[in-house]
Amino acid sequence: MEVSQLRFDGRVVLVTGAGGGLGKAYALAFAERGASVVVNDLGGDFKGEGKSSSAADQVVEEIRAKGGKAVANYDSVEDGEKLVQTALDAFGRIDIVINNAGILRDRSFARISDADWDIIHKVHLKGSFMVTRAAWNHMKNQKFGRIIMTSSAAGIYGNFGQANYSAAKLGLVGLSNTLALEGVKYNVHCNSIAPTAGSRLTQTVMPQDLVDALKPEYVAPLVLWLCHESCQENGSLFEVGAGWIGKMRWERSLGAIIRQKNRPMTPEAVRDEWNKICDFDNATKPRTIQESTGLLYEVLSTIDSGKGISMNPTSQTTSSFDPSQAVGKKLPGSQYSYNHMQPILYALGVGMSTKEPDHLKFLYEGSEDFSCLPTFGVILSQASFMAGGLSSLPGLNIDFTRLLHGEQYLEVYKPIPTSGELTSETTVADILDKGSGAVILLDVHTYCGKDLICYNQFSLFIVGAGGFGGKRSSPKAKETANPPNRPPDVVVNDATTADQAALYRLSGDWNPLHIDPSFAAVGGFQRPILHGLCTFGFSARHALKHFANNDVTKFKAMKVRFAKPVLPGQTLQTEMWKEGNRIYLQTKVKETGAIAITGAYVDLTSTVSTLESKEIVQAGGLQSDLVFDEISRRIKDAGDQLVKKVNAIFQWDITKDGKTVAEWTIDLKNGSGEVYRGKVRGRADTTFTLSDQDFMELVLGKLNPQKAFFAGKLKVKGNIMLSQKLETILKDYAKL
Ligand code: NAI
Repeated sequence: MEVSQLRFDGRVVLVTGAGGGLGKAYALAFAERGASVVVNDLGGDFKGEGKSSSAADQVVEEIRAKGGKAVANYDSVEDGEKLVQTALDAFGRIDIVINNAGILRDRSFARISDADWDIIHKVHLKGSFMVTRAAWNHMKNQKFGRIIMTSSAAGIYGNFGQANYSAAKLGLVGLSNTLALEGVKYNVHCNSIAPTAGSRLTQTVMPQDLVDALKPEYVAPLVLWLCHESCQENGSLFEVGAGWIGKMRWERSLGAIIRQKNRPMTPEAVRDEWNKICDFDNATKPRTIQESTGLLYEVLSTIDSGKGISMNPTSQTTSSFDPSQAVGKKLPGSQYSYNHMQPILYALGVGMSTKEPDHLKFLYEGSEDFSCLPTFGVILSQASFMAGGLSSLPGLNIDFTRLLHGEQYLEVYKPIPTSGELTSETTVADILDKGSGAVILLDVHTYCGKDLICYNQFSLFIVGAGGFGGKRSSPKAKETANPPNRPPDVVVNDATTADQAALYRLSGDWNPLHIDPSFAAVGGFQRPILHGLCTFGFSARHALKHFANNDVTKFKAMKVRFAKPVLPGQTLQTEMWKEGNRIYLQTKVKETGAIAITGAYVDLTSTVSTLESKEIVQAGGLQSDLVFDEISRRIKDAGDQLVKKVNAIFQWDITKDGKTVAEWTIDLKNGSGEVYRGKVRGRADTTFTLSDQDFMELVLGKLNPQKAFFAGKLKVKGNIMLSQKLETILKDYAKL
């Protein structure tokens, strides 16, 4: 057996119409790879007449003879519940449904009777519906399901004499497309295939040698792969046959806007624009209904602005988009005055909460070390062009409703003041031609008096404004960076609230896309989406907390690319990799796995974390560092057992010559435990203070803790009783 063989052990597969042809090939292939198979077949003739159990029985016998697991079911797919019940009765579950059963009633259109129409729809379309619906909730509840719909080239392209059949077959693609959307969050995937194979169905239309050559076994491997748990394909359509597989998608011409503001729309105008409507040059490939209808909003605003009637970006840009005039130009300077309110509002907007004690310094102006989050730097600078200054520039007379925030770079030179009056200077650094759109690189420098506080580069993507013959890249662009090829060092889950966008926008991004459901709907979103820069703020926070102990003076720079929208209420999952002082980042939507922020990194001036203890040992030369390093390893090895046993957080202040030279935290309360350099993030149950040397003597068993305590060598604050539990972690260090 190949090591990487795709197996289906433990999976239960229902194949409809598996008494012969393609269905039989699927049933045999699944069984051979460990699945338990329900072999369904009504056993009628190819027109759907008659009934017999022998077709299914023979396949079951063949599977069993080879040592596989299978049972037969002889019901019509119209009785979907019964088929699924057979799976549950025999094997206790249902994982995979292959809707394959089919018949033909070919007639030229005029001769199709009601009965010819109905039986085809009953077996193909309604049958697939009945079987799938019966299995659906089982799949949803177990968070796994794979479904195949069997379409046909006759449906995709039409086929003479098969009007009833092609209608039903393309109906299955529509069904599959919607199931793919409704199932995805439960890991229930649905795909369609349009196979070609020799079988009794094709015998009547194909020469015998072709029937023999196009084996069903050349279709089955695609079906198996699509149904494997490791396959993420969903909502797709494949043509397959003779050993070839291809994927289908929709293509749409750019089309043309026919209507003009305040004028009637006429059939003559349609006729006159016909070539353009049907011209597939620069065609798009919409993948979702949002991508499709999102365009209508652009159409409405283009017509309303009276800017012209063309959807062709090339012709539009030649008239109004001339980057050569804009590059290098400065926007009018802008000022931003604020007091402590704005940084606090921003901190709440990016998810800080008084529930976390270490967030207080960002939320309470009375805190001793009240600080402004470094990413507030984007708020300071966005004010400079949010007011609309951009469209006042020569050559940039474009439709800003087509603007998407593509990427962001922020570099901070001094901690952002918690209040002040700051000025920003904005320059169009460059404009790139990405074909489908233009990218405007805006450089914003923000000053407090003469001091440069921070620099931002906004990459703004203008949909449809590409094709002006510009360059694709620029030396001025701050590049994204990919994370190392290993699992992340730290993963943080952080739930946004349903009101996250409503709160974040109060920091100054008033785009209704983030609050107004009807506006979001025309933009093609199911509901208002979170600001990209809000996710940016969350992710920065995660890096700052885990690798700089929330010390804002350590934050240097951050770069992100916005890949997919996040909906308020979803959980952000930030994956982080540490390489020196650079923290590589990727932020996902936990519920869907969609990557919201990619190619990202945070640069710190220095880092503080458990991962760095080895470097510190070499630099600082404290003996106790080695021990904490080892404790960290032991805690990792112990999983969460120690946390269950100890349930306490210990802080260690290690001194040398009377001064504290290192602080360590052993957290055996949260998650599966953690050792890190630095003060406790939260509250310690017990704090120990002792010298590096006494610490070593203690763990090596040379110094008795009680004696050390009474001799004043070991100071203990907080819950002294808990220190007894330390034995569990410290014992056996003599062996070090
Ligand atoms: P086939 O006739 O060998 O297999 C279909 C099976 O479905 C038969 O064993 C039949 O008894 C069974 N069946 C019919 N009505 C049923 C019902 N109401 N309940 C349960 N079982 C029933 O045909 P083939 O070629 O293997 O077709 C499989 C599927 O692939 C069909 O949906 C067909 O429309 C589709 N297809 C096949 C193409 C080909 O080139 N073979 C081309 C395009 C689509």
